Amino acid sequence: MNHGLSPDPIFTPLVFRNLTVKNRVFRSNISGRFDNEDGSLTQTRINWETKFAKGGVGAIISSYVPVAMHGRIIAGYATMHRDDFIPLWEALGRAVHANGAKYIMQLSHSGRQMDLPGVHNQQRRAPSSTSSKETLHGFLTQAMSTGEISRLVQDFGRAAWRARQAGLDGVELHAANGYLFTQFLSSGINDRSDHYGGSLRNRARFLLEVISAIRSEAGSDFHLQVKLSAADHNNVIPWEGKGNTLADTIAVARWCEAAGADAIHVSTGSLFPHPLNPPGDLSLETLAVTYDAMISSGVFGFRNFLLFRFPMLRPIFRWLWFRMKKGLPIEGVTLEEARQIKAAVSIPVLCTGGFQSASFVREAITSGAVDGVSIARSLVASNDLVEQWRAGRDLPERPCTYCNKCLVNAPKNPMGCYEESRFPSREAMLEELMSIYRTKPGLRIP
Ligand SMILES: Cc1cc2nc3c(=O)[nH]c(=O)nc-3n(C[C@H](O)[C@H](O)[C@H](O)COP(=O)(O)O)c2cc1C
Ligand code: SF4
Repeated sequence: MNHGLSPDPIFTPLVFRNLTVKNRVFRSNISGRFDNEDGSLTQTRINWETKFAKGGVGAIISSYVPVAMHGRIIAGYATMHRDDFIPLWEALGRAVHANGAKYIMQLSHSGRQMDLPGVHNQQRRAPSSTSSKETLHGFLTQAMSTGEISRLVQDFGRAAWRARQAGLDGVELHAANGYLFTQFLSSGINDRSDHYGGSLRNRARFLLEVISAIRSEAGSDFHLQVKLSAADHNNVIPWEGKGNTLADTIAVARWCEAAGADAIHVSTGSLFPHPLNPPGDLSLETLAVTYDAMISSGVFGFRNFLLFRFPMLRPIFRWLWFRMKKGLPIEGVTLEEARQIKAAVSIPVLCTGGFQSASFVREAITSGAVDGVSIARSLVASNDLVEQWRAGRDLPERPCTYCNKCLVNAPKNPMGCYEESRFPSREAMLEELMSIYRTKPGLRIP
C-alpha cells in the first residue's frame, strides 16, 4: 500500500542500546495458564508464543513471569526462580528466534495483587500492611520486612541472569498495573514509614535497587526495559486517592534511565484490570460465570461477584467502571501521556493500549509520540496483524472488538479470543482456542 512515507516507519528497525528489533510492533504481555504447577514451562506456551513470531511482530514481551513462587498471581504461569528452568526458556527462545522475532521476559511479583491467593498456601507479601486503603478488592496483606525486600531484590537480579543464560534478548520489569513495584511506587497504596515509603524517591527505591541488581548480575549490556503506569488513576472507587500523577511517573522514568534502563514501556492504572487498561468494554455477563474463581482474591470478592451475578445490580458496577473512560479513546488510550514521558527521557519509549490500525500506529511513530507500540488483544484476535498491515490493510479483516471477553475468561478458561461474532461459528472459535494444546506425537522439550 502507498502510505506516502517510504520506508514505512512501522517496518523500520528500532535500535535500543543493547538490542535491535526489526520493526516497531511488540506483542504486549499476555498471560494464560499454559504451564506446570512447579513453574516449569510447557510446549503449550511455546506454541502460543510462536504464533505471534510467525505473524511478523518484531519482538514478543512475555507474560507475567514471577521471580519467586510467592510472587505468583495464579498457578500455571511459568516462573524464572530456578536454574534448572533455563533450558526450558532456552527452547522457547529458540522457537521464537527461528521465526524471526526477539523475546523479552517480563520479570514480576504480585505483592498483594494475587488473583488466587490460596494457591500453594502463599502468603501475600506487600509493601504495606492490611491498613492499605484498597476498597475495590479488599486485599489482605502482610508488610514486607527490609530483609524480605533485600532478598527479593536479589531474586530479580538472579532471574535476569537466568534469562540471559537462556539466550533471551532482554528483560522487562513489571512496574505497572498494580503489582508489587506499583505498590511501592504509588502514593495511593504505599503507607510505609521507613526509607521505602514517604517521598517519591523513597517509594522508587525498591525499583531502582532492582535495576542495579540486574545490572550487576546480568551485565550492563543486557536489554532492560521498565513497564510503568503513566498515572495511577487509583480512584476506581471514587473516594480513594488518585495516587501517582504523570509528573511523578516522569520523575520515576528519568531515575530509571539514570539507573541504567534501556527503554520505558508505558501503560496505565494502579490495578489490573483497570477501567483504562485494557481499554474497551467489560462483559459482566461473562464475569457472572468466571469471577467465582476469584471470590477469594480479596475480602470484597464476594460482594463483587454479586454485582456481576445479578443483572439488576450490574448498573452499579457499570457506573463505577465506565465513568473514568468518558472522553478517552480506546486506540492509543495512553498515547498522549507516553508522548510527555518520551519528551522527558532520551531512551526509547513504547506504549500499550488499543492499537489496531496501521495508520494510527504510523502517525504515533512519525509524530514522535513513541518509538514503537505494544499490542496484546488485537494480536490475539489477528495473530498475523503485522503481515496484514504489510499487505496494505489498515485494519485487520476481522478486527478485535475490544470486548475484553479474553480477559474475563482468563482466570478459568484457556487464553484466546472469545468474541463469537469474529468466527464463522462457535465450534470454529473453540477450535482456535484449542489449537495451541496440540503437540506433535513424540515432541518433547528438554
Ligand atoms: C488476558 C490479558 C492478560 C494480560 N496479561 C498481562 C501480563 O501478564 N503482564 C502485563 O504487563 N500486561 C498484561 N496484560 C495487559 C496487556 O499487555 C496490554 O498492556 C493491555 O491489554 C493493553 O493493550 P491492548 O489494548 O493491545 O490489549 C494482559 C492483558 C490481557 C487482556
Ligand atoms: S475476546 Fe477477542 S475481540 Fe474481544 S477483546 Fe479479546 S481478542 Fe479482542
